[in-house]
Amino acid sequence: MCGIIGYVGEKEALPILLDGLRRLEYRGYDSAGVAVAGKKGVKTARAIGKVAVLASRCERKTLSGMAGIGHTRWATHGKPATRNTHPHTDCTKSFFIAHNGIIENHEELRTELTKKRHIFKSETDSEIIAHLIEEEYRDAQNLEKAVQFALLRLRGTYGLAVMPNVLPGKIIAARMGAPIAIGLGEGENFVASDAVPLLPHTRTVLYLEDGEMAVVTAKGHAVRTLQNKLVTRGAEMIEWSADNTQKGGFPHFTLKEIREGPEVVRNTLRGRLIMENGLANLGGLQNITQSLHNAKRIIIVGCGTALHAARVGEYMIEEYAGIPVEVESASEFRYRKPVLDKETLVIAISQSGETADTLEAVREAKRKGTMTLGVTNAVGSSIARETDAGIYNHAGPEVSVLSTKAYISQLVVLVLLTMHLGRERQMSLSAGKRIAKELEELPKKIEKIFAQEKEIKKLAKKYAKYEHLLYLGRKYNFATAFEGALKVKEASYIHAEGCGAGEMKHGFIALIDKNFPTIAITPETSVYDKMLSNIQEIKARGGRVLAVATEGDRRIMRLADDALYIPKTLEMLSPILAVVPLQLFAYYLTLERRLDPDRPRNLAKSVTVE
Ligand code: M6R
Repeated sequence: MCGIIGYVGEKEALPILLDGLRRLEYRGYDSAGVAVAGKKGVKTARAIGKVAVLASRCERKTLSGMAGIGHTRWATHGKPATRNTHPHTDCTKSFFIAHNGIIENHEELRTELTKKRHIFKSETDSEIIAHLIEEEYRDAQNLEKAVQFALLRLRGTYGLAVMPNVLPGKIIAARMGAPIAIGLGEGENFVASDAVPLLPHTRTVLYLEDGEMAVVTAKGHAVRTLQNKLVTRGAEMIEWSADNTQKGGFPHFTLKEIREGPEVVRNTLRGRLIMENGLANLGGLQNITQSLHNAKRIIIVGCGTALHAARVGEYMIEEYAGIPVEVESASEFRYRKPVLDKETLVIAISQSGETADTLEAVREAKRKGTMTLGVTNAVGSSIARETDAGIYNHAGPEVSVLSTKAYISQLVVLVLLTMHLGRERQMSLSAGKRIAKELEELPKKIEKIFAQEKEIKKLAKKYAKYEHLLYLGRKYNFATAFEGALKVKEASYIHAEGCGAGEMKHGFIALIDKNFPTIAITPETSVYDKMLSNIQEIKARGGRVLAVATEGDRRIMRLADDALYIPKTLEMLSPILAVVPLQLFAYYLTLERRLDPDRPRNLAKSVTVE
């Protein structure tokens, strides 16, 4: 959700903070602000909307100093307004804070502090943190202790950066349920809500754990728990480069990341396929080899796009490895009382590795003694660290709020996992070899889909006028229907519904008329004829159909109003290809509606609060 950046070193902080905020904008773009500690104390600038607006308001002279914090906001408590924009401060302007998360006991703390004559300037839950520190500092007269005592009074989640006016050159960062990364440089150090804004400066990153607090200065850092125990964990090296987080000549991150599909498949597969044995070599599973061997049941959890990937994974694993699989939204799993045991494996899929519900689902599984496996893209993320074993996507940083390349890589990882589980169970050598060969062909096939980009653009022009779209798919492409619809809803605000084709007659068909077109995902698979019947039924009711079909399919050409084509592949791999034209279609629909696909309203890239 919100993005945080902090700098302390020997350079002017403002340009570093603004650059960091630009790179973090995908975490929230309701408003942005900075606080810089200079010779005349801490000065702030805040603005509603994009970081560019904030940058135009920042006077370099006033905001000069070598330490500072910045924040880009995704509003939870209090609407987007300057008064609600971080950094917030206390009554004496001694402590400036940037917070990501939700303080659940903020109302009672506010009442208590108001009685002690604290005056609040915002409607946010975050502001109480600054006042609490002020209150504790009065007694403790020690910054670290004041922050520590204040934090011990909070209930809820926070990723936090605190910059004092009283002791410049120091930032205190803390974490409880929302990520904080400390970037380690030479004569300078950083604090951030994720590693992306740190990449131009350093790739050496230390992630805080829940209940930890770091004191960061230009010369070093020290981490302690809130119970004052010294933490000596080492830093990690991030593989991503700063170039990966730039648009690289593309008008939007969304388009850049869709076009990275072929490269992403190659990177996800790199070094993992043993062609001659039809096997997948997944180093991250070494810890749990025996338990995987004994697994009798799998539950896959995730949210949004990751949940759709989970559904495809369910079909693959059941068909090829013969292990019963359940798929569940992480937000439900964490609150109901799932029956778990030692022979169950819980797989958590999350691009960011920080989605609050998915992380809590992992913790719930671990509390019950169940083995957990993370499929994440962000190295060192909370889910990557807290699961018993993991498989990284290697998709590179995904900046657009729309998850596109990460979805492709999640599906590829799930194929590899299916091979891994399947080959030691029921999958034959020839099936393993066939899948491995077809996986290697995917990048070229995705490139072929890109050749239709002009046609996709034209179709987007034609379909942008509709207010409703139905996405229909079956079996392996059941999830593709939901994923295609999600992309369109998120970015173009067209009402789109995913529907399993077999369910259509149980209700959805009532909506079909000439104003409610259907996108029918109809590659040549085992359910092709069933899909054709559905298309006939829609046509008979005056509905328009845009089909996603296999190249050379003449029957579809006669039946559907419009068609996009994907190359032939194995049925289990067809979702990896079928989603590509749908991602491009959603992108161009969004442009037709003159909207920004990188920054859809009300959304943030990483949902780190419930
Ligand atoms: O980082 P995660 O994969 O855990 O994120 C899960 C969802 O928030 C995410 O997929 C969301 O649905 C995307 N905006 C979809 O495009």
